[in-house]
Amino acid sequence: SRSPNCDHLKALVRTVPDFPKPGILFYDITTLLKDKYGFASLIDALAEHYIGRDIDLVLGIEARGFIFGPALAYRLNAGFVPVRKPRKLPAPVARVTYDLEYGTDTLEIHQDAIEPGQRVIIVDDLLATGGTMEATIKLVRQLGGEIAGLGFALELDFLKGRSRFPDFDVFSLLHYD
Ligand code: PRP
Repeated sequence: SRSPNCDHLKALVRTVPDFPKPGILFYDITTLLKDKYGFASLIDALAEHYIGRDIDLVLGIEARGFIFGPALAYRLNAGFVPVRKPRKLPAPVARVTYDLEYGTDTLEIHQDAIEPGQRVIIVDDLLATGGTMEATIKLVRQLGGEIAGLGFALELDFLKGRSRFPDFDVFSLLHYD
């Protein structure tokens, strides 16, 4: 949903040209996070979408999913599970490797992080191409979790990342064309 409220939140997101590479416009959420109204409104608006949906776990994707995920989990009375870059988690893991524009990346989750049938949402700061989220969905499937939603603070609509997830509830607060 889009409201004047969301326009106010959008105004708190800083754009930085040519970061991390020439030609890339970076959406910097640190300016939203440090605003006490902005951060609370963001979490409240995300929580509102999921309240009453019986969410057991919120999965956050390293690194910026670790900023929103735990705050949202707290609001939903759900647990929090980190999805991490390789070799960070101490106990046995499930692993997925996925393609980037150049090369590959890997994500890991503890094998016992999700009980089969638990209802999970996966959250990250940004939906761009959707490659990171698609890989995380594979991890959740390996563990037998039921995916109740995919949540993002920002979505770059023009990259059409959500087209990878026709069977899921994809919810983003702030949309950019
Ligand atoms: C960014 C962002 C998402 C991902 C979105 O992470 O935080 O995780 O890219 O892109 P995609 O939809 O095309 O997969 P980044 O790779 O910058 O890692 P970081 O959060 O650890 O800095």
